[in-house]
Amino acid sequence: MMEEIARQIQKRLGTRQPRTAIILGSGLGNLGEEIQDSLTIPYEEINGFPHSTVSGHKGCLISGTLAGKEVLCMQGRFHLYEGIEPKKINTVITAFRLLGIKELIITNAAGSLHEEMPAGSLMLIKDHINLNIPTPLVGPDDEKYGPRFPDMSNAYDADSRKKIKETAAELQIPLFEGVYLMMLGPCFETPAEIRAIRLLGADAVGMSTVPEVVCAVHAGIKVLGISVITNLGTGLKNSAQSHSETILQASKASAALTTLIKNYLGKY
Ligand code: HPA
Repeated sequence: MMEEIARQIQKRLGTRQPRTAIILGSGLGNLGEEIQDSLTIPYEEINGFPHSTVSGHKGCLISGTLAGKEVLCMQGRFHLYEGIEPKKINTVITAFRLLGIKELIITNAAGSLHEEMPAGSLMLIKDHINLNIPTPLVGPDDEKYGPRFPDMSNAYDADSRKKIKETAAELQIPLFEGVYLMMLGPCFETPAEIRAIRLLGADAVGMSTVPEVVCAVHAGIKVLGISVITNLGTGLKNSAQSHSETILQASKASAALTTLIKNYLGKY
């Protein structure tokens, strides 16, 4: 299946050879609009590719250049809470590897566990916590595509993190750094859950990213992850949580994120 998906995408790409893939999180789709010389492939035109079902997620691959670098962008991601089979996430990421993707820039919208990191902040992900949610690697492993027991000690590549921190400093874009914890969702956390995961060492919480990162590490793809903070965690603010707030705050912060990613790509 991975070969088949890679073959279909390559056929559409023709001579294009992206080496960087970008996954856009909730409300962050407009980075896709900055892509030059773009070629759009709707997910439904790729046989075997999962479909995106969440509002704020468009559902297409965009190939083209960003700051002069060839990229392949997923505008619309897949979440386990959609009921998507986890293995499909591995199929997509492994297909990217077969296409020659070497680095994955992954973005998401997330809740903050610190008042000092409010909505609108950007947080570079230095590590993650998976609260025992089955990963897409559960099931038989084909060693051809990656090891049975992937090493997660440098999942969020230290060198890429150093480079993006330098880029952010040059641009004077404030960039926090912290640990992302994935909850399955789709409900937001309870106040007690937020207190508990703060004790566990998380700085931000969201409902995505970990499955793709695990698959990328398995496939030998370098990862750079950035969370856009869209709200304070439940109980850390007085108002209720909502998806519309996530989308609104993410689109507000997306200009800074776009600038940061473009400059990073342009430089490295
Ligand atoms: N919790 C989980 N996922 C999220 C949040 C949150 O507070 N904000 C945006 N995505």
